[in-house]
Amino acid sequence: MRAAFLPLLTLFGHHAFARSTSRTATGSSLANSTGFPTTDGLDFNIDGTTSYYAGTNTYWLAFLNNNSDVDHVLDDLASSDLKILRIWGFNDVNTIPASGTVWFQLHANGTSTINTGTDGLQKLDYVVSSAESRGVKLIINFVNNWDDYGGMYAYVVAYGGNQTSWYTNSQIQTAYQTYIKTVVNRYSSSSAIFAWELANEPRCNGCDTSVITDWVNATSAYIKSLDPNHLVTIGDEGFGLTNGSDGSYPYTFGEGLDFTTNLNIPTIDFGTLHLYPDSWGEALSWGSSWVSTHGAACAAVGKPCILEEFGTSSDQCANEGPWQATALNTSGIAADMFWQYGDTLSTGESPDDGNTIYYGSDIYTCIVTDHIQAIG
Ligand SMILES: *[C@@H]1O[C@H](CO)[C@@H](O)[C@H](O)[C@H]1NC(C)=O
Ligand SMILES: *[C@@H]1O[C@H](CO)[C@@H](O)[C@H](O)[C@H]1NC(C)=O
Ligand SMILES: *[C@@H]1O[C@H](CO)[C@@H](O)[C@H](O)[C@H]1NC(C)=O
Ligand SMILES: *[C@@H]1O[C@H](CO)[C@@H](O)[C@H](O)[C@H]1NC(C)=O
Ligand SMILES: *[C@@H]1O[C@H](CO)[C@@H](O)[C@H](O)[C@H]1NC(C)=O
Ligand SMILES: *[C@@H]1O[C@H](CO)[C@@H](O)[C@H](O)[C@H]1NC(C)=O
Ligand SMILES: *[C@@H]1O[C@H](CO)[C@@H](O)[C@H](O)[C@H]1NC(C)=O
Repeated sequence: MRAAFLPLLTLFGHHAFARSTSRTATGSSLANSTGFPTTDGLDFNIDGTTSYYAGTNTYWLAFLNNNSDVDHVLDDLASSDLKILRIWGFNDVNTIPASGTVWFQLHANGTSTINTGTDGLQKLDYVVSSAESRGVKLIINFVNNWDDYGGMYAYVVAYGGNQTSWYTNSQIQTAYQTYIKTVVNRYSSSSAIFAWELANEPRCNGCDTSVITDWVNATSAYIKSLDPNHLVTIGDEGFGLTNGSDGSYPYTFGEGLDFTTNLNIPTIDFGTLHLYPDSWGEALSWGSSWVSTHGAACAAVGKPCILEEFGTSSDQCANEGPWQATALNTSGIAADMFWQYGDTLSTGESPDDGNTIYYGSDIYTCIVTDHIQAIG
């Protein structure tokens, strides 16, 4: 989601289903000797249980200034059985903000500096340790396609080029990999990591798809060299798919993405897709076909995929409910994570971009409570 930068944050200072016989045999063996989350056929195995999983997104969690708020959110997620949580693992700036505002990496004058201080990666440390003790598993990503919290543009400001040359600029890729190395090495032994994610919604508009494919190949191989035990995924929206395509914009290759080719890269463990019919000029009812066509593609590749973000601001129970039901009954889709989770913090309500579903609300009951009951 291209979440608008939210001024509010600166104030904070700163299975009981029959579709898969393999999936019904849950709770047995660890699929991986490491004990970390892993894939198991077209599903995921977390803490020894192979199942379909539900999760959500809180991009802002590592940017909060109050650790009790972090604990509070993770308590509510854990008690809701939302097992997978995706957060922004980046926060890029071009000038150091005022004290009390969180930032992770400064790009200025042709160099990059990682902030390991109390306003820096120590915030992420706290989220990881709090998630660890509650059994919540994190997807942590490393850069934003969009300008919110800096993004690829923050690198471009310091190193030159543009959004499409970002993927091939060697100075930029060196800085990006140095950041990845710092974060991955910090948490490579943590039980709280579900997966490392290359970027939020990478696109390379008008580029040959080989640009992103080569970047995914190189970056995912680099992450595996640092940490062979955790899953790695791309974080893309699922664009660029021929099989099942209705010819509409999201299926085209114009954003420089080839879903199947990228998912086939050996160092990519699972695929992701996002779903925003409102932003893509599609009807809300189109959403279920987007999920099922991707499920078929993921099953054909032999890797599970996550419906990793989905949202609308109109009648979420009626419109998002069928997307979730389709995800659950589609082989190849192994988890879904709505965009985005909301909760009450010490500073008031967490950010609302119009798609937020607040803990304890009526909408939460259908999108979370009822859905998790349906998973079984
Ligand atoms: C931190 O958050 C907790 C609730 O989560 C609240 O009780 C406490 O007052 C907050 N502390 C500050 C300094 O705002
Ligand atoms: C970058 O260089 C300019 C000009 O020398 C200087 O004013 C500025 O403080 C530098 N920025 C950082 C973050 O070091
Ligand atoms: C980005 O930079 C590349 C390489 O210099 C150039 O070929 C391309 O036209 C630029 N794209 C845009 C949108 O400016
Ligand atoms: C992917 O990268 C590896 C090296 O890490 C290289 O051997 C391989 O040829 C690359 N594959 C593609 C499709 O680029
Ligand atoms: C799991 O175990 C296998 C074999 O021991 C290994 O190759 C793999 O990298 C491990 N991690 C994941 C995430 O699959
Ligand atoms: C294409 O879609 C069909 C029907 O959903 C499916 O059976 C097949 O495995 C898919 N093939 C590929 C290569 O994605
Ligand atoms: C899967 O769920 C969707 C949405 O509820 C429904 O329309 C479809 O018929 C279901 N398909 C199967 C095979 O159960």
